[in-house]
Amino acid sequence: MDKSKGRVLVIDDALEMATAVVEYLRRHGFEAEAFDSGQAGIAGFRARPADAVLTDLRMKGTDGMDVLRAARELEPEIPVVIMTAFGAVESAVEAIQRGAYHYVTKPFKLDVVRVLLERAIGERSVRAENVALRRAVREAIPGGSLVGRSAGIRAVNELCRRVAGATTPVLVLGETGTGKELVARDIHADGPRRDAAFVAVNCAALPESLLESELFGHVRGSFTGATQTRRGLFVEANGGTLFLDEIGDMPLALQAKLLRVLETGEVRSLGSDGAQKTDVRIIAATHRDLVSDIRSGRFRQDLYFRLNVVPIRIPPLRERADDVPLLLEHFLRRGAQRFSQATSITFTPEAVALLVRYAWPGNVRQLENAVDRWLITSEGREIAAADVRALIAEWDTPEHPALPAEMLPLHAVEERYIAWVLDRVGGNKTRAAEILQIDPSTLYRRGRQRKS
Ligand SMILES: Nc1ncnc2c1ncn2[C@@H]1O[C@H](COP(=O)(O)OP(=O)(O)OP(=O)(O)O)[C@@H](O)[C@H]1O
Ligand SMILES: [Mg+2]
Repeated sequence: MDKSKGRVLVIDDALEMATAVVEYLRRHGFEAEAFDSGQAGIAGFRARPADAVLTDLRMKGTDGMDVLRAARELEPEIPVVIMTAFGAVESAVEAIQRGAYHYVTKPFKLDVVRVLLERAIGERSVRAENVALRRAVREAIPGGSLVGRSAGIRAVNELCRRVAGATTPVLVLGETGTGKELVARDIHADGPRRDAAFVAVNCAALPESLLESELFGHVRGSFTGATQTRRGLFVEANGGTLFLDEIGDMPLALQAKLLRVLETGEVRSLGSDGAQKTDVRIIAATHRDLVSDIRSGRFRQDLYFRLNVVPIRIPPLRERADDVPLLLEHFLRRGAQRFSQATSITFTPEAVALLVRYAWPGNVRQLENAVDRWLITSEGREIAAADVRALIAEWDTPEHPALPAEMLPLHAVEERYIAWVLDRVGGNKTRAAEILQIDPSTLYRRGRQRKS
């Protein structure tokens, strides 16, 4: 029965006519039923919905037009094919105008009706599938672009969509690699400022004085080295969004200046005495626990209240293991586009199970790095549990980087150790600097030197 091409009701007051059509349709894989009046046909449709209706037009009492109207009332998308006597083409045209799918003139060839019904039912199921697919996609990604179907990610995406239209500040909270920057870009791209600038600044990456002139600008000659006037990021982001990444690492003195700008809506660049109006949406992010930073005096409470209008908390990946297979799929697809040499890789079910169970201290970024690495090194191969175990072992029990086998000059050991720490935090220089207790700008400088 489930192989049926669909259920068709055949309605004709000449019952032998209807029965002949029904028998033919059954022989061709349909589930068909004959009715000898419009009334009986409509009752049959009410009793059990059909995929298509084939009805005679001219019948005593309830005619084909009535059947058409009743069927479409019960199910607007139902295809209704009208059978008309020769010479009744005008009423057939009227039926089409009222929503009939097609008409056939008696006497007709049975295979013509069969093909018509197959097509009508096929189109309808494609339409239904599309609707279902669109709904599924919408539910999986409600507004935001974060991949994941866990309740946590759905809530984040939903919140992104809701705040995108407003100008209130947003505070994005989450561990390293959870997608804080992605959320910020999403909110910007989803809102009315999408065509204006999205300006990002990492408050942990620059020394205080530099960060200050970056943010607020400076007038030429206002300090040694200020050879040119700089507008500052607030002015650059005017009309758009300013993303203050790692806000928890902003020095206290700058926090005070930032607060003033937020309160007055005006920026004053270094060395200038005029203030400039700004219209900037602020999105701030941090992996730090700002409440405890307030307690220890590292973060200003008044600034916190200003920024924390809409907090968006992204849960760590280990709390939403359901998302791991989906993210794997996502990064595989994206990686295949990025690395032309990588065809594709697959995972054994055991490998996926291990990845789902892993704690992911570097969160989504760590997973992304793992997939990219496999794409590059294991082209076209299947990733098995052993491969996953090997990588996890490398992450979790690394060799002692501070104790190399050979004897090395101190700077080389330092270099290696920094590389090792960076690797363990998924490349997050801010986190690495925190662990190493050095200024993040040192790491950024080193990064640049290493690259050049
Ligand atoms: N839910 C997600 N779906 C798809 N990609 C994601 C998701 N979450 C994170 N990513 C990807 O993971 C990487 C890390 O994300 P992002 O840089 O936004 O994290 P972060 O929270 O800002 O990290 P950090 O605190 O280290 O700066 C990016 O490449 C991002 O595109
Ligand atoms: Mg970030």
